[in-house]
Amino acid sequence: MNKLFYGDNLYILREHIADDSVDLIYLDPPFNSKADYNILFKEHTGESSGAQITAFEDTWHWNEEAERTFQDIVDTAPANVVEMMTAFRRFIGLNDMLAYLTMMCVRLVELRRVLKETGSIYLHCDPTASHYLKILMDAIFGKKNFRNEIVWCYKLGGRPRKGFPKKHDTIFFYSKSENFYFNADSIRIPYESDGGYVSSGRKIVKGKVYEINPLGKVPEDWWFISALNRQAYERLGYPTQKPIALLERIISASSNEQDTVLDPFCGCGTTITAAQKLNRQWIGIDITHLATNLIKKRLKDMFDLEPKKDYRVIGEPEDLTGAEELANQNRYQFQWWALSLINARPYGDKKKGKDTGIDGYIYFNEDMGKVAKGIVSVKSGNVSVRDIRDLGHVMDREQAELGIFITLKEPTRDMNKEAAGKGLYRFTLLNKDYSRIQILTVEDLFKGKKPDIPVAYQQFPYKKAEAINPTTERLDF
Ligand SMILES: C[S@@+](CC[C@H](N)C(=O)[O-])C[C@H]1O[C@@H](n2cnc3c(N)ncnc32)[C@H](O)[C@@H]1O
Repeated sequence: MNKLFYGDNLYILREHIADDSVDLIYLDPPFNSKADYNILFKEHTGESSGAQITAFEDTWHWNEEAERTFQDIVDTAPANVVEMMTAFRRFIGLNDMLAYLTMMCVRLVELRRVLKETGSIYLHCDPTASHYLKILMDAIFGKKNFRNEIVWCYKLGGRPRKGFPKKHDTIFFYSKSENFYFNADSIRIPYESDGGYVSSGRKIVKGKVYEINPLGKVPEDWWFISALNRQAYERLGYPTQKPIALLERIISASSNEQDTVLDPFCGCGTTITAAQKLNRQWIGIDITHLATNLIKKRLKDMFDLEPKKDYRVIGEPEDLTGAEELANQNRYQFQWWALSLINARPYGDKKKGKDTGIDGYIYFNEDMGKVAKGIVSVKSGNVSVRDIRDLGHVMDREQAELGIFITLKEPTRDMNKEAAGKGLYRFTLLNKDYSRIQILTVEDLFKGKKPDIPVAYQQFPYKKAEAINPTTERLDF
């Protein structure tokens, strides 16, 4: 069954993915750009863009964790990889770049382990670290298994005052052995017209006859595929989302139907959706619930796939203990997971710092174009009547019609009383009253209970991905 994992890919690869089990790997890891990448939610009236939250950070530092990982490489990686990393350590020094390469090295070693002998790997990067990564790939996969350096060209982005605009990424294509798949016919593109060769269908050079392939030519190692601009219909708001056409070309070339495709840094699931479209098995891993939540929605919108029934989700809380563990590990991830259960839009992350009393929002389309607002507060620790009073104050301050309080611990009788005291909200379109403050325990959510809200009028936080009919859809590149 197809699998979507939440968690750090290093541990997931080690604990869940068997040796020689994957046919194709595509990875688009952070590039060491030193930037933060914000998720863009669907715009609402009156919404300021300052409300965006950081989906992932791409800043690396040499610290104790990096030193431990380096030691892990020294202890367990093949000798030539250790030598290469030791050489990097001497040459680059103990700095951010070495921390980044150490993070990548330990994962690339695992990725080689899980790849089948006939498998291929495509590593997507940019000029920040591509020169070092290619050396690392040579050390891990072997120089002789280097197949291509693909240059993905696009036009998006700015232009510097001095120097040439940077308009490409690099994708290193390696195989695990000489015996790898390459399905040339599945990725052919039309020939460009050139002096009659294409129209006549043949060309004679030094007496030798060359005939064109009626299916077209195999693309060169530079690809012009439009990057997703703000208006692109495919764009879902996840930062660094790649075009599905890019992944379709890679997957079509280097795997067959029913093969297993793995993306260990899967973001909003571009590889997974391309694999699904092309009838491959897939495994996706990401370390943030913002990504896995979006993927689940994307799979539903595009293919009508449901977790549990059509694919497995591993690493998300499945019971109270799992929810407590997640809350102890990372309170924001816990909040984002809990918010996804009621389709609320997350608000706030550790970068934003100060506690506004708001963890999420829900919006409804009201009468006459008005948008009604609900504030969501998520608590993992002890709770008391003060928390409900605080939520009431935040609702007043924010002029919110509703407040949803999600708690791991059971609410007290006083809390329920305080919530009831906030009164009712009349939703005019349905002529129906709803409790203004509603308390839901995580246990309730596990049992499938939902807040009592006008769901049919709720605005969802993520853009809807276009549905795909696998039988009639053509390849987009
Ligand atoms: C550049 S984005 C990938 C975007 C993706 N190709 C797409 O089209 O949406 C990198 C992703 O790697 C994830 N990530 C970073 N470190 C990770 C780790 N150790 N394990 C799993 N995922 C990780 C980030 O959360 C982020 O979603």
